[in-house]
Amino acid sequence: MADITQIAQKYFAPEHIESIQNFGGRVIITLIDTPENISKSDDLKKELLSVEGVEKVTVIFTRKKAAPVSPEMEKWQIRGVKHIIGVASGKGGVGKSTTAVNLALALANLGQKVAIFDADIYGPSLPTMLSFENTPPVSYNGKTFEPFENYGIKAMSIGSLIDRDTPLIWRASKACGAVEQMLCETNWGDVDIMVIDMPPGTGDIQLTLSQRINFAGIVIVSTPQDIALIDAVKGVNMFERIGIKILGLVQNMAYYICPDCGKKAYIFGQNGAKQTAERLGEKFLGDIPLDINIRENADSGTPIVAALPDSEHTKAYENIAQKIIKALE
Ligand SMILES: Nc1ncnc2c1ncn2[C@@H]1O[C@H](COP(=O)(O)OP(=O)(O)O)[C@@H](O)[C@H]1O
Ligand SMILES: [Mg+2]
Repeated sequence: MADITQIAQKYFAPEHIESIQNFGGRVIITLIDTPENISKSDDLKKELLSVEGVEKVTVIFTRKKAAPVSPEMEKWQIRGVKHIIGVASGKGGVGKSTTAVNLALALANLGQKVAIFDADIYGPSLPTMLSFENTPPVSYNGKTFEPFENYGIKAMSIGSLIDRDTPLIWRASKACGAVEQMLCETNWGDVDIMVIDMPPGTGDIQLTLSQRINFAGIVIVSTPQDIALIDAVKGVNMFERIGIKILGLVQNMAYYICPDCGKKAYIFGQNGAKQTAERLGEKFLGDIPLDINIRENADSGTPIVAALPDSEHTKAYENIAQKIIKALE
């Protein structure tokens, strides 16, 4: 590791190196994005690959350091909500929404008053997962919305405002304005924990939302796969850079249990997210298996925690929920 750091510092100023991780020969370096850094990264890769034990090198460029939140960059006021936690992922399709909705239901099972907000402007899926698709939100006064309420939790989605099938080409300011409106103009009532399903990735929109929403912490969802993990590392870096606490990583689709022989199959690799959490010094919150019941129930509008409250999957979500409650105390 010392060698790798030394070599990297030959090419880049130490303050430009955000992190260096070595996952048993698989090296991931994150660097501040400057034209000189980009042009030098190929040479760095070549040199690192000649170091004994290094098998693969990935260089990730992040944006220039985010400016600290200035006083005029005020947090949005979300009335009645005590704690807000974000569920984020570096890339789409890893099960961020499935995890968010089942965690919200699990938190409610543990006695919390829970709301969930779908801020995923790229692919809002909460209306489907909580069965309020094609139902417009109610407004009694023409100014504020009433949240949907299903399986004991309150919910609202940016999908109620935008058309799911129209690709979103909004600029960050417009997208964030839409999120602000739905988030701040909903009558949430009295809520202990609000779960926010964040848009995947680490671009301008994600950054602005993270600076505006008063997060108590973030849960990162990743599959054990290499490629998803690289993005998860980027996500962790983004939140830490703006001073938001990472509550931990959830490893989704961790394994598949063969219904015939009962054997576990590690389809996307074994323990990748767990090891990444350890390397990053973040908490590992738990495994969720790849299971047809999880998919079918999410896609049909009754998430597994609501549909099968006594299943071992529900217990897995409740275990993670318990850790989240503890972290918020
Ligand atoms: N643990 C799981 N087991 C089986 N299917 C899953 C699991 N997690 C997610 N899925 C399925 O994978 C697809 C993508 O999940 P979704 O939660 O929509 O991902 P994201 O929000 O990250 O894009 C959905 O069809 C969902 O039902
Ligand atoms: Mg989603």
